[in-house]
Amino acid sequence: MLSLRLTLLTLLIAASGWLVSGENMITCYGNVQHLACDTGLIKVRSTTYGRTNRDTCNARPASEIANTNCALKISTIADRCNGLRECEVKTDLLGNPDPCFGTYKYYNTTYDCISGQNIVICEQGYSTLNCGDGYIQIINANYGRANAVTCVNGLPSSVLQNTNCYAPSTFSKVASMCNGKTTCTVDASYTIFTDPCVGTAKYLSVSYICHRSIVTCEGNTAILTCGDRRINAVSANYGRTDSTTCSSGRPANQISNTNCYTPDALNKVAARCNGQSSCSVPATNDLFSDPCYGTYKYLTVVYYCS
Ligand SMILES: *[C@@H]1O[C@H](CO)[C@@H](O)[C@H](O)[C@H]1NC(C)=O
Repeated sequence: MLSLRLTLLTLLIAASGWLVSGENMITCYGNVQHLACDTGLIKVRSTTYGRTNRDTCNARPASEIANTNCALKISTIADRCNGLRECEVKTDLLGNPDPCFGTYKYYNTTYDCISGQNIVICEQGYSTLNCGDGYIQIINANYGRANAVTCVNGLPSSVLQNTNCYAPSTFSKVASMCNGKTTCTVDASYTIFTDPCVGTAKYLSVSYICHRSIVTCEGNTAILTCGDRRINAVSANYGRTDSTTCSSGRPANQISNTNCYTPDALNKVAARCNGQSSCSVPATNDLFSDPCYGTYKYLTVVYYCS
């Protein structure tokens, strides 16, 4: 199950159920790119740095806007903004390589707003991420300082000046500590993340979603529940992908095929469940048709509540 959960990272983030889809933000080089989600958290689809037309950011000499065939895909804005409700990036501090010297460029970011949670822990504090009966999936994390308003109470302005402070290993460290767990305690401490900006007051910002997974042996019925929230199915399979799940009392020939998938299982589960607060899905050949005759199967569903 652990490897299933890990491979679902991309799926989860690409999952349906966007709150806002495909916002576009253009920022001329040197200015501040401001991304925000009224509800939910930012998830950047792509950012290009360059120039692909003459009309955008065009208050410049003709020679600087003539080249419209310049587009560099960059990830720095995604790295900094994913998982936040609001994000401001001063573009001339990003330090991206110049894809077309002499051309005046702009940043073009497309992003979605996804449902998730963000917690902020001021330096030397700690907090517990809690998914109740679900599993934690970290979307992004940073130990440092990206604005002048978070964790400032009583501090002199001299330790709040640097708002471009990022500890690059934060995401991978928090993800390896927390992914797949139901709760996880994280410390906002330089001993874990190393100090990316000595003399600046830092904080740890962590964004995550909670997902649930449910396994139901053939012949039984899966019950998905979200309390007062709504179900979003992320992945589903009716079949068999290992020889241990739902194997008790079964002869070897019914559990030996571990390469059995129902291609449209997610569509069938989503049709019954998405947007509902609870739903039931029978793990039967009647619903899914039989993807591997003679094998004893099970239904696996991963979903989250929003
Ligand atoms: C920005 O990027 C989007 C998506 O790639 C594209 O459709 C749009 O035309 C671009 N806008 C500008 C001004 O380059």
